[in-house]
Amino acid sequence: MVNVIGLGYIGLPTALMMASHGVEVVGTDYNEELVATLNAGKTTFKEEGLDELFADALKSGIKFSTDYQVCDTYIVSVPTPYDKLDKKIDPCYVVAACKTVLEVAPEGAVLVVESTVSPNTIDRFVRPLLTEAGRGDVRLVHAPERIIPGNMVYELLHN
Ligand SMILES: NC(=O)c1ccc[n+]([C@@H]2O[C@H](COP(=O)([O-])OP(=O)(O)OC[C@H]3O[C@@H](n4cnc5c(N)ncnc54)[C@H](O)[C@@H]3O)[C@@H](O)[C@H]2O)c1
Repeated sequence: MVNVIGLGYIGLPTALMMASHGVEVVGTDYNEELVATLNAGKTTFKEEGLDELFADALKSGIKFSTDYQVCDTYIVSVPTPYDKLDKKIDPCYVVAACKTVLEVAPEGAVLVVESTVSPNTIDRFVRPLLTEAGRGDVRLVHAPERIIPGNMVYELLHN
């Protein structure tokens, strides 16, 4: 099972796309209102093809929750705001999400950071979390999303 953490512009379509292709997916966000909207069968933003993808994912059994799940794969797609002057990102959301994942992840889980981060962010801010938590068993992956806004659903499928 895959737990997608952060159901915004990137995380929600990622979760829906995997679910609609037969992967068991739970989408998690700490925004209770957002999760309630999704559980009420409504999408949270407009994007071409998103409503159809949402309907497919619901049929395939996708679930939405404010809880992090116990599962084998986590995809973290939380915000990485950046300072327009020095172009440095703020890793605090990624760090917080990864810390919570490490509290629940079973042995050997895969932790994918999908958020966009500057070079070296994983080594400086994320990998040390695994060491601090004594979680050398967790397999860390960085796979930043490359879609262009406005063409999200097509690009997720074809990139
Ligand atoms: N928006 C784009 O066009 C785009 C394109 C490519 C890459 N990205 C990157 O993808 C990442 C996500 O961006 P986005 O646009 O989807 O952000 P977003 O603000 O639309 O969504 C992020 C979601 O994460 C949730 N969240 C934050 N911290 C959390 C936590 N600890 N636990 C659970 N949920 C949490 C928020 O409530 C929010 O719903 C960023 O790194 C961004 O740079 C964005």
